[in-house]
Amino acid sequence: MISPKPYIKTLAPYQPGLPIEVVARSYGLQPDAIIKLNSNENPHGPSPAAVEAMRHALQNSHRYPDTFSLTRLLSEQLGVSGDSLILGNGSNDIIDLIARTFLGNNDESIVSQYAFAMYEVAIQTVGASSHIVPANNYGHDLEAMKNALAAKTKVVWIANPNNPTGTFISYADLENFITQVPKNCIIVLDEAYYEYLEPSERHNTALWPAKYPNVIIIRTFSKIHGIAGLRVGYAIAAPHIAELINRVRLPFTNNHLAVVAASAALLDHKFIEMSRKTNANERRKIEQQLTLHGIDFIPSKGNFITLRISDSAVYDSLLRQGIIVRPLDNYGLSGWIRVSIGLPQENDCFINTLIPLVSSAKKK
Ligand SMILES: Cc1ncc(COP(=O)(O)O)c(C=O)c1O
Repeated sequence: MISPKPYIKTLAPYQPGLPIEVVARSYGLQPDAIIKLNSNENPHGPSPAAVEAMRHALQNSHRYPDTFSLTRLLSEQLGVSGDSLILGNGSNDIIDLIARTFLGNNDESIVSQYAFAMYEVAIQTVGASSHIVPANNYGHDLEAMKNALAAKTKVVWIANPNNPTGTFISYADLENFITQVPKNCIIVLDEAYYEYLEPSERHNTALWPAKYPNVIIIRTFSKIHGIAGLRVGYAIAAPHIAELINRVRLPFTNNHLAVVAASAALLDHKFIEMSRKTNANERRKIEQQLTLHGIDFIPSKGNFITLRISDSAVYDSLLRQGIIVRPLDNYGLSGWIRVSIGLPQENDCFINTLIPLVSSAKKK
């Protein structure tokens, strides 16, 4: 009998959000009428500049992709050298590459309770073990994570802001933590939602790997740039670390159109600004409504909010009415959902549908 490596048998795969077509078919709904708020995508669609660039690039699809221009652009924008960059097929690919480069059978990795689920998948895939540190008020407890460090700890994973909780760690606390972690232990700082922070809230963490060579910063084009479907993520690492990871990386994992789109999206400042501002306004609006109606939520710095629905039947009711959100049972947060910030009218519809459902769930 064919059998996998023992640890693959116990691997819990990543659960992606339900797609529109599946919900439409299951509930007899028109796909156009469905409001999809379950995968933290950009509700405004892709960066228009990215779409235009892909149109022109189509005719070169017979060539293998060339990442030179994208790498150069990233390096200019971030103020880092080209040899400190790693491109991935989405940032999930980078997470997987880091695990495959630095973790093996007897190694341990530290993750926070409620941290982004892909870290666990990547850790388990290579047969390493994870030390899950209880969260503090739904966020990473850096003090406890520091105390969990052991000789066999090879990689520590931090998402800032975190998905699905939206919690944020101050840069001063992060830097303090980094200086206390042994230099032979990699610290992954996953900043998928970095661009949603107010410019005044952001710190130029892209420069950290030059200062702290055991730090790897991960970012993505899937969120504010609106090209989740094209799969482009990147990491910034000290050149000797980037070189190790790039050894493991398969050639051509970023397709030609995706690379061209990412370059254009990076320069589409108007779209980035509009996306950030709308997200901040709409997130505030939703949080105000939740507060007004006594619905618990975790204050978020991302393009989503995690809130308490009290009864998981509320999730099913939303789904039947064509509003797809993310249940969080697999994160150990049953009775909670994560809702992505959508377009203003989508958010209004979500709130207007949610409030009576939660009110009656609370009365039960
Ligand atoms: C914290 C975090 N990291 C990484 C990812 C992966 O994104 P992608 O692979 O689309 O770049 C996500 C996606 O939701 C995320 O929330």
